Amino acid sequence: MPQLSHRMGHAKPSAIMAVAEKAKALKAQGRDIISFSIGVPNFLPGEHVYAAAREALAKDSGQYGSNRGADALLDAFIAHMGRLGLAGYTRKHCATGVGAKHLLYNLAEALLDPGDTIAFATPYWTTYVDIADIVGAKTLLLPAPASQDYKITPAQLDAALAQKPKVYLFNNPSNPTGMVYSKDEIAALADVFAKHPDTWIISDDIYNTLVFDGLGYHNIVNFRPELRERTVFVDSLSKTYGMPGWRVGLMAGPEAIAQAITTLNSNHITNLPEVVTAAAVAALAGPQDVPQQKCREFEAKRDVVLAALAAIPGVKCPRPQGAFYVFPDISCAFGKSHGGKLIANDVDFCNLLLEAEGVACVPGSAFGEPSALRISYTCPDAPLKEGLRRIQAFFAALV
Ligand SMILES: Cc1ncc(COP(=O)(O)O)c(C=O)c1O
Repeated sequence: MPQLSHRMGHAKPSAIMAVAEKAKALKAQGRDIISFSIGVPNFLPGEHVYAAAREALAKDSGQYGSNRGADALLDAFIAHMGRLGLAGYTRKHCATGVGAKHLLYNLAEALLDPGDTIAFATPYWTTYVDIADIVGAKTLLLPAPASQDYKITPAQLDAALAQKPKVYLFNNPSNPTGMVYSKDEIAALADVFAKHPDTWIISDDIYNTLVFDGLGYHNIVNFRPELRERTVFVDSLSKTYGMPGWRVGLMAGPEAIAQAITTLNSNHITNLPEVVTAAAVAALAGPQDVPQQKCREFEAKRDVVLAALAAIPGVKCPRPQGAFYVFPDISCAFGKSHGGKLIANDVDFCNLLLEAEGVACVPGSAFGEPSALRISYTCPDAPLKEGLRRIQAFFAALV
C-alpha cells in the first residue's frame, strides 16, 4: 500500500474548525446554539461589489488571467495601501493569492527550507504553526501572555532575532487577541528589526482597517524605510470587506518575493477568477462606507463583550483595540466543576460551555495559550447579548 508523503504526517485540520463542526452538529440536532467560534465578519459587501461581479460575468473573456493578479486589482491594492500610509509600492512589488492563507503558505514555501526557523508570538493564529509544520520549518515562539497585553516587547524581539530565524511573522491587529500595537510600540519594534538584517519579516495585517479608539494602523516600514527590502505586507478582503468566501489575498514587498509568489501561482492556481477580481477591485476602489460602518459597529460590540466579561469575578481580559475578537483569561475556572463535571483546562471549559449553554468558543490552546478562550463577536446584538448572558450563567454555576 503506498503511503501519503512524509510532509502530510505533520498536517492537521484546523482546531477552530473542530469546534465549529461540533456546534454545527448540535444545531442539526435542534439545539439553540450561539456561535462565537469562527472568525467571520458576518456582513456582506456593498451593492457596488455585486454589480461589478455581474458586469464581469456579462463580459467574461473566457481566458486565463495574470499569474500575479490583474493590473486593475494590483492598482486598486496599491491605492488602498496608500490610504493606509504605505506609499511607494508598484505592481512589481505586489502579488495576489486565494486568500491571505494561500499567500502565507506560499510565502513559507518561498522563504523557508526544511529545518529553517520561523518565529512568532504566542498567542498565534493557529494556521501559522500548521503551515510551518507542513513545510518542515522549526518554530520559535515568543510568549506574549495577558500580563503583557498579549504583545511582544522590544527586548523579547531582540532576543529572538539574535537567534537569526529565517522569518519573523508579525501579526497586527492580532487574531486571536484583537490587540493592536500603538504607533510608539511599532516604532520601537521597527528599531529592533532594523538591528537584525538576516531575517525576513512577514507582516500579516489583514485586519488593518478594523482598528478602534482612534489608535490608527501603523507598519514598521513607516518608521524604518530600510525594512522594505525584507518586509512583506499581507492583506486580504476577507475580514475588512466582508468577503471571506471570495478568497482574495494580496501582498506587497520585495520584488523577488512578489515574483516568487507569481511563479508559485503559475504552478498552483494560475490566476484569481475574473469575476472575483472585478468584485475585489470594486471593494478596494469603490465607496468605503460599509467597511467603515462595520468597524464602528465592531468597536461598540467590543465594549459590550468587555463589560459582560468584567462582571464575571476572576476573568481577566486585556482590552482589544481591533479585529473582532476578545481573548479572556478564564483560568479561574480550572479545577472547578459544572453540573458535576470537572473543568481541568480550556478544552473542558469550551466543551462544557457548548454542551450546557449552547455557546461555542474556541479554546485558547488552539492558539498556543491554554489559559484563555477566543470569542469572535460579529453576530447580531441579540444573540451576542444572549451568548454573553449564558457565559455569565455558566460561570455562576461553577462550584
Ligand atoms: C491573522 C490572519 N491571517 C490570515 C488569515 C487568512 O485570511 P484569508 O481568509 O484571507 O485566507 C486569517 C483568517 O482568519 C487571520 O486571522
